[in-house]
Amino acid sequence: MLRILFVTSEAHPLIKTGGLADVCGTLPPELTELGAEVRLLLPAYRDAVAVAGNLKPMAHIDIPWIGGSVRLLEGTLPGTRAPLWLIDYPPAYDRPGNPYLDEHGRPWYDNAARFGLLAYCAAALAQGRGGVSWRPDVVHCHDWQAGLTPALLTRESTRPATVFTIHNLSYQGLFPADTFSALHLPAPLWALDGLEFYGQLSFIKGGIVFADRVTTVSPTYAREIQTAEFGDGLDGLLRHRASALSGILNGIDERTWNPVHDRFLVKPYSARHLDAKTENKQVLQQAFGLPENPAVPLIGMVGRLVSQKGIDLVLAALPALARVSVQLVILGHGDHRYEQALDSAAARYPGWLAVRIGYDEALAHGIEAGADMFLMPSRFEPCGLNQMYSLRYGTVPIVRRVGGLADTVIDAMPAQLRAGTATGIVFDAADPAALGVAVDRALALFRDRAAWRRLALTGMRQDFSWKRSAAEYLKLYETVLGAHSSH
Ligand code: ADP
Ligand code: GLC
Repeated sequence: MLRILFVTSEAHPLIKTGGLADVCGTLPPELTELGAEVRLLLPAYRDAVAVAGNLKPMAHIDIPWIGGSVRLLEGTLPGTRAPLWLIDYPPAYDRPGNPYLDEHGRPWYDNAARFGLLAYCAAALAQGRGGVSWRPDVVHCHDWQAGLTPALLTRESTRPATVFTIHNLSYQGLFPADTFSALHLPAPLWALDGLEFYGQLSFIKGGIVFADRVTTVSPTYAREIQTAEFGDGLDGLLRHRASALSGILNGIDERTWNPVHDRFLVKPYSARHLDAKTENKQVLQQAFGLPENPAVPLIGMVGRLVSQKGIDLVLAALPALARVSVQLVILGHGDHRYEQALDSAAARYPGWLAVRIGYDEALAHGIEAGADMFLMPSRFEPCGLNQMYSLRYGTVPIVRRVGGLADTVIDAMPAQLRAGTATGIVFDAADPAALGVAVDRALALFRDRAAWRRLALTGMRQDFSWKRSAAEYLKLYETVLGAHSSH
């Protein structure tokens, strides 16, 4: 039986800021179902400990540079059978709120140490230190927070195979050079083909340079990040690693995101009872204080308010949208400048634009169910989950042709409409005019009730199950293990 250690900074329902948590909360239980033995390793953040419930101390791991040891707590990921390991070290993790940012929205002052510690613990556990007898065949690390793990493991004479998944290349974990010695990292790792990046310490390079295999969360993003436009300064390195790099599309957590049994909906529905969406639409209009009119097309948007998500394009397109009959609801939080700009836009356009700043899981589900269309004009999108949720909920996505959006939504061009394969509206240019044209195309289709219904039903039939993606990961683990043990 394949043993996999999952190293991550987020996992739903313990702690979540975005899609990384959805992936790390779903893939381990799916892999467990497929017969793998998975251990999920995370920091014991205060909120995660509260959600995890029953936890038992199971080991101590010595970490010389913190001048002591950390405690490992064992439990299970709530709602699943997947075993969970939390690193209990209160000075680093016993804080409320966001795992990366303080209450002022600034990165925690000691993030390098906090996620350096995650990597040191992962590497120690991978090598059977701390008296834990379970040893992984593969260590699967996610994003920069886990990036130092593969680097540390290359210092060992024998070690498990390593896989590093890039969920978002624009977050790299860059720190001043002296952090390198503060974390007691082995001197040979400070190199151009190591952890150094233009004079700084790069956590993400630890994964990209040193992991046996590197993956991203969609095939298109795997290609895009090898270009200067999407490579964030790492495209050269990624081209160099091209033979070890691939993309595996994320899936949907059907336990949480299924309109048939979604506990957040006033009226659950299936493809056969699509009309029940109307009741969810009414409740959504109420929640946002918009006119309760079933006929007016309602566009929803949920996401982190950062430039990645194309919020500026939406803001710039508002004057044009004001001229058509449409409602737009936006839920999100993030950069203060976008939060403020959206709040003042909502004041300028009452009656059709409504904004909720904050994080609200129930409302996110309500938007997926109640909206007619879902907008994702991302500048880049490694995979994107919300467009897949939208497809599942019969809510037609309007997306930019980038990354995972390009891989999951089939544009409603005449040929695709005729063939019955279209699932949404896709546009190319990252500008407000192109976004406006895409919305106009959606509104025109919306007026043709039969065509619209067909579009929504085709989307609902798409298979974005985790089973498919989990099977691809298993195949990858087996390949990497085979190559690793033949060395
Ligand atoms: P990213 O990981 O880049 O933020 P994804 O589309 O992969 O984008 O995943 C975002 C996840 O976070 C989805 O599950 C989405 O519903 C959720 N989410 C984002 N912002 C909010 C919010 N303000 N309130 C509730 N859920 C949110
Ligand atoms: C990142 C990406 C998003 C992806 C998610 C999960 O946050 O921005 O596109 O879906 O990770 O892989």
